[in-house]
Amino acid sequence: MKALDEDLNPVQRNRPTHDGAPDPLVGRGNSRATTFVPNQLTQLLPVARCLFPRPKVGQFPNPTPSIALVDLNPNSLEYTAQRIHRYQPTTLFADIFQPLPLESTFDSIGINYLLHCLPGNNILSKSVVFRNLKALLNDGGVIFGTTILGQGVSHNFFARKLMRTYNAKGIFDNTNDTREDLEIILKEHFRTYDIQIVGCVAFFAGWK
Ligand SMILES: C[S@@+](CC[C@H](N)C(=O)[O-])C[C@H]1O[C@@H](n2cnc3c(N)ncnc32)[C@H](O)[C@@H]1O
Repeated sequence: MKALDEDLNPVQRNRPTHDGAPDPLVGRGNSRATTFVPNQLTQLLPVARCLFPRPKVGQFPNPTPSIALVDLNPNSLEYTAQRIHRYQPTTLFADIFQPLPLESTFDSIGINYLLHCLPGNNILSKSVVFRNLKALLNDGGVIFGTTILGQGVSHNFFARKLMRTYNAKGIFDNTNDTREDLEIILKEHFRTYDIQIVGCVAFFAGWK
């Protein structure tokens, strides 16, 4: 098992938050790939195309992880399923705003760059996503991800242009998304959580 796993950054399971320790979510990989690590056998990766090769950045701890891919876009699902076919992922064409019809539960769930694409006045209105996914998370499991924030972070020239254009087109809906609201959600749903801001992106994790 090589390749795909390698663009995953380790997230330490059950890691205490706000302890001042360097965060494994940050600085270990590129912005496209969040990650995951430890002892988990099963993963749910809502949103296809979540994994890109990036040599020497982490691995699945188990050579035969059980992976489910979820997306509203069948093309993304198909592409990603092909890309990681060696893991024989299951795919689910579904809306993340609805409870997901999956019988398995998971040790980790990754939602990279999903939240800013979802419709809603602010990130609080997307809280239902966490409720739906938490139902699929094993005790001690982690949900992790990244999202582009709209307020309280600095956007450079290109980011401002992208935000304006994508929000106008409805590709993004994150103008009012803030770290504070993300924290309210994580606090509500998880035993412990962490958020790190890099540029205008929030890297987050919540442990059940
Ligand atoms: C910006 S892409 C991120 C893809 C991937 N996680 C990555 O990091 O490259 C956002 C994905 O969210 C999916 N998506 C948007 N709304 C969704 C919804 N309501 N339910 C499930 N997936 C959704 C889109 O189809 C798209 O594949």
